[in-house]
Amino acid sequence: MKFFVDSADLDQIAYLNDIGFVDGVTTNPSIIAKSGRDFIEVIKEICAMVEGPVSAEVTATEADAMIAEGRKLRKISKNVCVKLPLTLDGLKACKVLSGEGTQTNVTLCFSANQALLAAKAGATFVSPFIGRLDDIGVDGMELIEEIRIIFDNYGYETEILAASIRNGGHAKACALVGADVMTAPPEVIRKMAEHPLTDKGLAAFLKDWEKTGQSIL
Ligand code: G3P
Repeated sequence: MKFFVDSADLDQIAYLNDIGFVDGVTTNPSIIAKSGRDFIEVIKEICAMVEGPVSAEVTATEADAMIAEGRKLRKISKNVCVKLPLTLDGLKACKVLSGEGTQTNVTLCFSANQALLAAKAGATFVSPFIGRLDDIGVDGMELIEEIRIIFDNYGYETEILAASIRNGGHAKACALVGADVMTAPPEVIRKMAEHPLTDKGLAAFLKDWEKTGQSIL
């Protein structure tokens, strides 16, 4: 499963990128607002740091304007992936931009039928939002399972990009049901390395090692 970082925090992205955990980055208007940075500038900097796709979201709501924004965004770097909302206008813009060879990420997907339309529109990625479904008492993972079955039934190449990942449980469930990608905040990815028994075991090993009086270097 590919890991995208859902953030515009350059330091956090760089930290995970240096370990080799960053296959791409996703942003949205809320993340850009939180960064306090200029949208184009911050996308340019992320694209220079990361090799994989970097999602930059349009803010127009009408197809022609979305297409114009997408064409501007893709000029920032060859790894810009134009993010479009899952509306009929967004799907229309997706069809045009994907047809021009631009990477596209259709976002705010909350149903299997919406995902099917994104695939038919030629999206590179579709982003079902797991956490926001859980927030309203709907099992977000069931949606990922349904989309996996539908895409496999017809051989759609659109990748399932599980988004709105809030914890390690979501990450594990995505891997178990075969999401192609998950995008998660940096802190969620970092926490995946943690286990109390790892900490306890390491402390005991180091204490015993000290008793030997040896050093490896
Ligand atoms: O990639 C979409 C994601 O940022 C949404 O996450 O936690 O705001 O629901 P969240």
